[in-house]
Formats: sequence, C-alpha cells, structure tokens
Amino acid sequence: MTARRIDGKAAAAELRERVARSAAEFERRAGRPPGLATVLVGEDPASAVYVRMKGKATAEAGMAGFAHHLPDTVSQAELLELVEELNRDERVDGILVQLPLPAQVDSARVIAALDPAKDVDGFHPINVGRLAAGLDALVPCTPLGCLYLLKAELGSLAGLDSVVIGRSNIVGKPMAALLVAESATVTIAHSKSRDLPEIVRRADVVIAAVGRPEMVRGEWIKPGATVIDVGINRISSADGKVRLVGDVAFDEAVQVAGAITPVPGGVGPMTIAMLLRNTLVTAHRRAGLPEPEGF
Ligand code: GUN
Repeated sequence: MTARRIDGKAAAAELRERVARSAAEFERRAGRPPGLATVLVGEDPASAVYVRMKGKATAEAGMAGFAHHLPDTVSQAELLELVEELNRDERVDGILVQLPLPAQVDSARVIAALDPAKDVDGFHPINVGRLAAGLDALVPCTPLGCLYLLKAELGSLAGLDSVVIGRSNIVGKPMAALLVAESATVTIAHSKSRDLPEIVRRADVVIAAVGRPEMVRGEWIKPGATVIDVGINRISSADGKVRLVGDVAFDEAVQVAGAITPVPGGVGPMTIAMLLRNTLVTAHRRAGLPEPEGF
C-alpha cells in the first residue's frame, strides 16, 4: 500500500478559480477590484521569485496589484512611511511585506505598523492574539493552506493526535493554534525536543515545518497517518542537479502514510491561493459587504 498523494496544486487551482469569480462579483458591487500591495526589499533571489509569483497570481485572480521594490539600503523610517501610505490607500485591501528584511530594519516594528485589517499575512500582533484567543482573525497563509488540505482529506480533526514539527511564527505556532481550534490534540516539537521519532510515531497528523531536508524518516510515521510537508529545500544531488525536497523523506514515508503532500505540488501552491483568499476577505470587510461564502 502506498499513501494517497494530496494534490495541493489542484486544490489551489480550484480555490483560485473560486476567488477569481468572487473577486469579479466584488468589483461589480464595489466599483473597484480587490487590491493587494507587495513590498520587496533588496535583491534576495528567493524573495524576488515569491513576490513575482504573488503578483502574477493577483492579476490572474482579477485583483489589482501594487508592487513596491525598495533597495536593501532602505531606512526604517522610509519603510514605515511606505507602510503608512499603503494603510491610507483605499484601493489597497491587503499589504504583504516580504520577509526577511535587512538587518537595519526592525521587522517587528514594520509588522506592527500595518493596519491589522489589511494584514493578509496574519503577522500583526492583533491577528496573532486573535488567533490565539480563538477569535476571528487573519491567519498566516501557509498554515491556513495546510488546514484546508487536512480538512479536505480527513473532514473533522477532532480528537486526532497531531504533531507540528517547527515553532516558527509563520508556520509552526499558527498551525498549532488552528489545530487546537479544530479540537485536535496538539504537540509542538522543535530542535530541542527529546526523542522526536517517538513523538512523531504517536501522531495521526504530522505537519513538518523545520526546513531540514528529508529529516522526517518513513519509520517515524504511524501507519495510515496524514503527512503535510511544508519544507521547500534545494539540495544538490550526486550528479550535480539541484532538486527540491521537503522536510519528509517522501520515498520512505509514502510507503507508510495514509496520505501525504508531495514537494513540489503540495503545500506550496496553497500558500498563494490563501493569500488571495485573505485579500478577498479583507476587501469585503473594508467595503462593508457581507463575507464571501465558502472560503
Ligand atoms: N517569507 C517567507 N514566508 C513568507 C510569508 O508567508 N510571507 C511573507 N511576507 N514573507 C515570507
């Protein structure tokens, strides 16, 4: 028996199509499309690729994109000024400041300067706190995408043993909060956890978000478990080719798991779909329209 492949690419395409339809309806009602501003600082190639992909997806969803690219010498004050300008801009429903930011900029201060109602990354302390408190919140896109795939696969998560490997603010912590809200039993494991294989072996649901290539082995996986691999690691193989691998040793885990996300084509495409989803939601709220249904 090999595990079912969870097709994040197909799920993301379906979601993006529904977002595009709802965005068109929004434009009819509001007289303008939903708008997403991106802020890229510096020339990090990976960040540039992500921001470009986000801009392309925004246009494909029929939304307005406002791309800002600042040099890596930008000062804190200049960046805060741009954020405040975007906060005031009525055409802008979502603001995404691509991380990481250069060392002279205090990322926490920049995030705190965002209008929480436009914080489509869900990084502002208000949204972090609302999620932790179980209130309606803007939720970070990657964990939201993971939850979407999990619910499509399993239906209810109530009572399931889940392990989140990784405790980042972008993935691990919000993922754990979402699972708690779904009434799963949640363990957060990380680099200091003792006997990680034993912790993972108990889990019906495994979310791997550590950024270490193929760290989670097949023999750690409980037979039939659902495995969500958030890792995107570039590694050079013996033949000199660069491959993308996840945090899970896929070829091993696929023999044991019940269902598993591939890398690429699993969680990755869901992140951008959820960014558009969050922008659609903030646009409706800001325009005083009823929440779009089915998202
Ligand atoms: N850097 C890595 N992941 C993300 C993300 O989801 N959002 C932003 N803004 N920056 C990131």
